[in-house]
Amino acid sequence: MKILVTGGTGYIGSHTIVELLEAGHDVVALDNLSNSSELVLERIKMITGKQVKFYKADIRNKAALEKVFKNENIEAVIHFAGLKAVGESVAKPWMYYENNITGTLTLLGVMTKYNVKNIIFSSSATVYGNPAFVPITEECPKGMCSNPYGWTKWMLEQIMADMQAADKEWNVVLLRYFNPIGAHPSGLIGEEPNGIPNNLMPYITQVAVGKREELGVFGNDYKTHDGTGVRDYIHVVDLAKGHLLALKKLKKGSGLSVYNLGTGKGYSVLDVVTNFEKANKIKIPYSIKPRRAGDIDTCYASADKAKKELGWKAKYDIKRMCKDSWNWQSNNPNGFSGK
Ligand code: NAD
Ligand code: UFG
Repeated sequence: MKILVTGGTGYIGSHTIVELLEAGHDVVALDNLSNSSELVLERIKMITGKQVKFYKADIRNKAALEKVFKNENIEAVIHFAGLKAVGESVAKPWMYYENNITGTLTLLGVMTKYNVKNIIFSSSATVYGNPAFVPITEECPKGMCSNPYGWTKWMLEQIMADMQAADKEWNVVLLRYFNPIGAHPSGLIGEEPNGIPNNLMPYITQVAVGKREELGVFGNDYKTHDGTGVRDYIHVVDLAKGHLLALKKLKKGSGLSVYNLGTGKGYSVLDVVTNFEKANKIKIPYSIKPRRAGDIDTCYASADKAKKELGWKAKYDIKRMCKDSWNWQSNNPNGFSGK
């Protein structure tokens, strides 16, 4: 199948491209490089031996998208492109709504025009808000999001569901990711956050590599086993493989389908620190800080539906996630460019 991967040079996009290529799919990648580097493509080639066709383009640019759909015989789109920093979205809501919503609407419009009506969308557990229950099943009601980033996912899910309801030719798979961490076992691709990391694992690896002094643990008075926030961390390679199985579903005619991609296990911040220390034999100094606004106590998935309907199950455990995160960071202390 010929697949357009938007956000293809990003963290999850690049790992998914590797899996797609290794499964024999034809891949066209598109990215505006606002949060990634073109050097990723060389690394993908080192891993797979294949050169990916790349368009440096913005999903808000209709003409640029039309060019891709005119030139390439795209059969399905895996849509990762978007801005994703929660804090930044609170400070710059317009930028997030404009990029994520306008961009996706433009993409969906061009897909409609070129009669490509198969899409897998990167959604997030954030749409459940403070979840009504855990483990979170797909039936758990969508909640109130605590930031504009989350609302963009919430709204885009609704937009795609409405389009599919109106036109049954559309096949839409909404994948709600839990907390992706880890990196490809080769250590050649991984997450390269801009500036000070917002997320837990990149912060830990930057402490480990000596770029930051200590980890701030945001709150130890949550209703969890040790007081720190509990999340469902999932290895990015497992997540990437989930997209391959979602493609199969899409091909068979998915209609509108929604899946959680998580492991079903919750780990606290301190559990992650301990596992990282054990897996890599590196001490991570930390201190307890106030709670971060908008954070919730506990969030973990029921991944039963993805197992039953897609045949997907996460394979890698938390130690392996910690090992691979560190393998990537220690091999590339200054990211892709090495600078
Ligand atoms: P990422 O920032 O590494 O990748 C996103 C890519 O999209 C980047 O390469 C960026 O340059 C590109 N992009 C942004 N706006 C664009 C635009 N207008 N046109 C073209 N390209 C554009 O992020 P990621 O972690 O790989 O996330 C991929 C997707 O998964 C995002 O939609 C994100 O919201 C979603 N998601 C991520 C997480 C997570 O914790 N990483 C969790 C849930 C959902
Ligand atoms: N945390 C710290 N210190 C840090 C960073 C994080 O203690 O320096 C804690 C947080 O308070 C939270 C846990 O680590 O308890 C995980 O935080 P992350 O920022 O890594 O992840 P979140 O669960 O807040 O959010 C992530 C993505 C969202 C996505 C969501 C899906 O950032 O985009 O997972 O569940 F929507």
